[in-house]
Amino acid sequence: MTRDIFDTLPAPERHAVLRVMPMPADANIHGDVFGGWIMSQVDIAGSIPAARRAGGRVATVAVNAFTFKHPVFVGDLLSFYADIVRTGRTSITISVEVYAERQRLTVEVVKVTEATLTYVATDEQRRSRPLPPI
Ligand SMILES: CC(C)(COP(=O)(O)OP(=O)(O)OC[C@H]1O[C@@H](n2cnc3c(N)ncnc32)[C@H](O)[C@@H]1OP(=O)(O)O)[C@@H](O)C(=O)NCCC(=O)NCCS
Repeated sequence: MTRDIFDTLPAPERHAVLRVMPMPADANIHGDVFGGWIMSQVDIAGSIPAARRAGGRVATVAVNAFTFKHPVFVGDLLSFYADIVRTGRTSITISVEVYAERQRLTVEVVKVTEATLTYVATDEQRRSRPLPPI
């Protein structure tokens, strides 16, 4: 199996919106990190640029795509990169990429997950509202 070089190296100039290390409580019954835990972290990471663009609260309306490319292990240092890929009237679609820095004898960086999620700007009554002008 060939592995794309872009799957192993995060672009150094990019700024991670979130960095976190999974603990044993985040593992599944096999001892590797539970996919649902990673999904919740991806949702948090994606909401950061979405809320900035919305100028306030947002709600996740859809998970459009989600791929677990490689397993995540307890003790990996995870970096989440999130970018706006589309905006509509009320919605913001975000691409999230997750890289794991393995805490082993030699440092290895692996792209473990990629996802696309859509958020909607909401008001105090949780109704959708138009995005503010840039
Ligand atoms: C978010 C919410 C307020 C939107 O309600 P709404 O305004 O009636 O929904 P609409 O159908 O008009 O869609 C609003 C926007 O979301 C987009 N959207 C809706 N469903 C979508 C989907 N499955 N995929 C991508 N975008 C979607 C629409 O295209 C629209 O975008 P636009 O305004 O930029 O064109 C409502 O769906 C809601 O409260 N959902 C629950 C959110 C939540 O609680 N999330 C946390 C997980 S439980």
